[in-house]
Parts: sequence; structure tokens; C-alpha cells
Amino acid sequence: MPHPTTSEPGLRQSTYRFRCITCGDSGDTSGQDFRCGKCRDLLEIVYPSWTSAAPSAADLKSAWHKRRLSAAPIDLSGVWRFREILPPLPADDQAITLREGNTPVYELPRCARSTGIPNLLAKHQGMNPTGSFKDTGMTVAASFARQAGFGWVACASTGNTSASMAAYAARGGMRSLVLVPEGKISWSKLSQALDYGAVTCQLRTDFDGCLRLLQELVRRAPVYQLNSINPFRLEGQKTLALELLEQLDWQPPDHIIVPGGNLGNSSAIGKALLEMRELGLMSRLPKLSIIQAEGANALVRTVRETGGKRLISVQAETHATAIRIGNPASWKKAVHVLEATGGACEQVSEIEIAQAKAEIGAEGIGCEPASAVTLAGLRKLAAQGFVQPKEAVVLVLTGNLLKDPDFTMGFHRGDLLPGKAGDRNSETLRPLRRAPIVLDATLDAVLRILDQAEKFDPTHSHG
Ligand code: F0G
Repeated sequence: MPHPTTSEPGLRQSTYRFRCITCGDSGDTSGQDFRCGKCRDLLEIVYPSWTSAAPSAADLKSAWHKRRLSAAPIDLSGVWRFREILPPLPADDQAITLREGNTPVYELPRCARSTGIPNLLAKHQGMNPTGSFKDTGMTVAASFARQAGFGWVACASTGNTSASMAAYAARGGMRSLVLVPEGKISWSKLSQALDYGAVTCQLRTDFDGCLRLLQELVRRAPVYQLNSINPFRLEGQKTLALELLEQLDWQPPDHIIVPGGNLGNSSAIGKALLEMRELGLMSRLPKLSIIQAEGANALVRTVRETGGKRLISVQAETHATAIRIGNPASWKKAVHVLEATGGACEQVSEIEIAQAKAEIGAEGIGCEPASAVTLAGLRKLAAQGFVQPKEAVVLVLTGNLLKDPDFTMGFHRGDLLPGKAGDRNSETLRPLRRAPIVLDATLDAVLRILDQAEKFDPTHSHG
């Protein structure tokens, strides 16, 4: 049954073009590899219609608010609800949507106390349909893939992109090809791709090797590339920032902190912040900071050692496998958003990641390891004075706790980062570990455990 959608008088769909981020060359179409025909750098989507007739901020806010009462699939999507700032589809029913977006903003009272930042919130993108932020970009890019008539879509992935792509391809009646590094992604993510019907190849290389191969493949075969090089992905991922600002009644926080891997998400959020300011949706820019794992710190090194002028690739290694990336494709876009918003770029250790993940878990929220770099990074930025105690901070949690059960089990059992008894690192982690307890099935045995837990749980507070 067709649902009426809410289109507001006075609001028109935006016209869009592709523009090269380096030479500025622009056009109405892009090649299969989403690179500039002249200088080969990445493309971004821009909206020329905003220069002559920008939509009014008040009209936009009112239309987006009203759509929350609509039952039409496109309005129930937390991405397409903001369609005036997205590339338009020919018709509303052409969106492939799983009702993505609409993710909660949580308070983190215990983390707020432990970091000394009382005004601390988390936007949990792990609450998306396939459990990660990728869905917000995938709904847009997959819809345009189908629009362009493709029967196949493909991606290289550390796991979440492939899970999301496979789901949206299945919903849209397309076939999907997944390239993942063998043995380096979580089973939970791999199992999603299998269940959603993807042809899944585990390549004997790392993520960077998978991505290189994919870019050659799309030049040879009629396969549509759904990595974050695809600028439609970033347009969808932009809506995280719009939804967040709407949830905060359009009062920008002082800081937004996001993990950095291939650097598409940070680029997308930064683009949204700059566009929101341009459209008058908010008056002040939050600082967008990007946190990487020490073992996958290409952007940190690029900023520190070359002032953001030249990419320093690294051989990536981290237990946070989602961000195990050494040659990030969108590094130039990320450097731009760091400079434009005045954000910082930091790195955190494996111990700091594990600690932060357990602390977010202990709030009853949970996230995957890559998301926890945000809390670990905040702790560092606060110690450096870059984040002040009176400032409002939002962490972007990118993936669900259930995405990486091996990490979580390894941590709580003490197999992951065991350290040596008495050393500082293992003493930091020990109180956070909660190994499962095997007991005889007697009431006494369980009562004894309850008694011990009541006495010795140092992380629990009744306050
Ligand atoms: N957090 C999670 C949970 C991720 O899956 C990723 C990236 C990131 C953070 C980093 O985002 O790449 O935009 O900087 N995962 C990709 C994938 C690479 O294939 O699933 P980014």
C-alpha cells in the first residue's frame, strides 16, 4: 500500500554534482572508481542549488520534525527523513531502507565521573539495523547502485561494511561480493554477510590489499563499488550529525569524538557540520576529533610528521579489527575536517581501548572495540587540556557490543592482554574483568558468590 510522504511547500530537492577534492574539477557523473578523471583524487558531492536558493533553516527543521509522525518508509528512515540535504532519488519508493538511523543518544554517568567531563553523551550508531554506522551510508549508496541499473555491488571490508552492504543488496534485489582479509575480521560480522547471501571471499592479505584489488576489479567488471570512496555513502553517513543536532535541540556540543579507520565516517560527519553551518542550522561548529589505535595510526603520523600534507601509511595491527587499516583512502578529507573544525587527532593503546570498552559496557550500553577508542581518546584529550571540564562532549559509538564477542570474552576471561601479575596494565584491567564462574548447581555455592561479589566489586557504586 503506498504511503503518503510529507513534502513541505517551499522545500525543493537539492541538485548535486561530483567535485574533485584536490583540483576542483566537477561533473554530473562519476566513473566506476569514483576518482577524478583529471587528477585521480577522490570525489565529493556538492549542491550547487544551495548557492542560488538555499533552503531555509526553519523550513528544514520543521519538515524534518513533522516527518517523525509519518508512517511512510522513507520518513521512518533516520537518513531519508533529511532528504533535502541528500542527492535526490527519482521517487520516494526507490529508497532501499531498513529504517536505519534513529539511533539513541545516551548519558554516560560513570564515564563522565572517571574522565572528569560531566557533560558526556554517546550517540550509539551500533543501534542501526545491522549493528553499525555503515547502514546510514549504505541506504543511500545501495539505492543509487540500483538506480544506475547494477546487478552486483562489492566492497572490501574489515567486517561492518560487508555486513551492511550484504543486507542492503539483499533488500534491493542485487547480488553482493565481499572481499575481507582472511582471519582478521570478527566471525560475527562475517556470519552476517553469509546470512544476507553475499558471495564472500577471504583474501590472504590485509584490508588495504582487499581495497586495492577491489579498485582494479571495478574497472574490469560491471560491479558497483560500495566502499566509502563512494561519495553517496558519505552523504548518508552525514545524517548522523543532523540527527544528533536535532536530538540536542540544535545546540551544538563543544566536541564530537569519532574513531578513525579508512576515515570516511569522520569526513562525512565533518562535511555535515560545515554544511549545517552554511545552511544556518547551527551557529557554532563543534570541534571534530579523530582517534586511532596506536597500531593503525596513519592519520596521527600524517598530521604530526607532515602537517597533513602527505600520507604516511603503516602496517596496521590492533585487536580493534574494524580499524585495522594502514592506508586510509579518505585521509585528505579527514585532514580537511580536522583543520576546518579545529579538532585533534590522537592515538590510544590496546590497553586503553580494552579499558574504555569495559567501562562503556559497565554503563549497560556496550560497543565494539573500535568504538571504545573514543572514550580512551577523550581521556587523553582531557588530560592535555584540549577538552575542558565545562565543555559538552559527544562520543560516536560506531558498532554494537555483539559485533565482536571474541574480544569481549577474551578480555573478561583474561586471555586478551593478560600482562603479568602486579604490572600496572594488568592492575588497571583486572577490576574490569568479569570471567564467567563455573559452579556446582547448589544454592550455597551461588550464595557464596553473591556474598563475595557484594564485598569485592570495586567498580560498583550505589551513588
Ligand atoms: N568503527 C567501526 C565499528 C568500523 O567498522 C569502522 C570501519 C570504523 C569505526 C572506522 O570508520 O573507516 O569510516 O574511518 N569499518 C570499515 C569496514 C572499514 O569495512 O567495516 P572509517
